[in-house]
Amino acid sequence: MRAIRGATTISTDSPEEVKVAVKDLLEQIALVNRIEQEDIICIMFSSTGDIKSFYPAKAAREAGFSACPLYSSTEPDIQGALKLCIRVMVLAEIERQAHHVYLNGAKVLRKDLTEVVNIAVDGPAGSGKSTVCKLIAEKMGILYLDTGAMYRAIALQCIRQNADYAEKDSVKHVVEKLKIKIEYRDGRQVTLLDGEDVSDQIRTPQVSLIASYVSAYGFVRQKMVALQREIAKKTSCILDGRDIGTNVLPDCRFKFYLTASAEIRAKRRYDDEKYKGSEQSYESVLSEINERDFQDKNRAIAPLKQADDAIVIDTSDMNIDEVVAEIIKSIQEKV
Ligand code: DC
Repeated sequence: MRAIRGATTISTDSPEEVKVAVKDLLEQIALVNRIEQEDIICIMFSSTGDIKSFYPAKAAREAGFSACPLYSSTEPDIQGALKLCIRVMVLAEIERQAHHVYLNGAKVLRKDLTEVVNIAVDGPAGSGKSTVCKLIAEKMGILYLDTGAMYRAIALQCIRQNADYAEKDSVKHVVEKLKIKIEYRDGRQVTLLDGEDVSDQIRTPQVSLIASYVSAYGFVRQKMVALQREIAKKTSCILDGRDIGTNVLPDCRFKFYLTASAEIRAKRRYDDEKYKGSEQSYESVLSEINERDFQDKNRAIAPLKQADDAIVIDTSDMNIDEVVAEIIKSIQEKV
């Protein structure tokens, strides 16, 4: 038998919010722990005193978790405690290690019980990594770390300072002085360049291409990989990039490599950019994709390559939901 912990928060005390939050929390616990209704022995909730509109236990019953005993209680009012918080303990008849689930900013009170889970997703530009990773992060209640954003921030700084990205020393000069920081605001990754939020400015085709060039320098990779490892060590996250499974986290348990033909990837990028108002032609997007593929795959240090133990998914004929489902299924089979 295992005890699985979980917690979530709501934004206002209303029956609807309690019902949705409890349903999400229990479904997520069942998903990541691969438990069925019949495996559950009992579910116990506690909620902060500011939740008065609905019993979490009743919400669980309404969400279909009705085959086991349910219990709710109210926590004492403690100064400084997280507001509008629902905590749960699920006792389940499983042998596997329990995976605890914290959603909507709820804090882990027992850090020693919580295993950090990292998922590595590598692949070429336009293979669908970022969309897929965002959805999985949301489903699993973990962070999404877009490592490409870090290389993009360096590229942006090179552009701003008129540094020649083909000149190692001039890039080195830029990198030595800049400070890149990743923060999460409302669950969204924010990339800070010397304290300035550049999350939107790093999404231009020019930045994409220069990022591919500057990311080939050893001193650039060293600095960025250290930052990525530091985040991954402390936090459960899904990371996407080019070298996560091969170089950043070679011991990671869950590794995926997404791919698709250059033409299909270019078409996806072209459609996205067109939707955003860009007038770039399909041919020019395809040529950029090919140039970045060549650069990313042929650089000397940590080139784009699938890890031997990665699960390869060709997304050419798959939609986003199918890719997400396949990754989640593979994770569930391994836990
Ligand atoms: O994933 P992206 O398009 O945002 O990445 C931009 C560039 O950064 C990409 O062409 C190669 C580089 N990159 C890398 O070398 N290693 C990573 N882990 C992520 C990105």
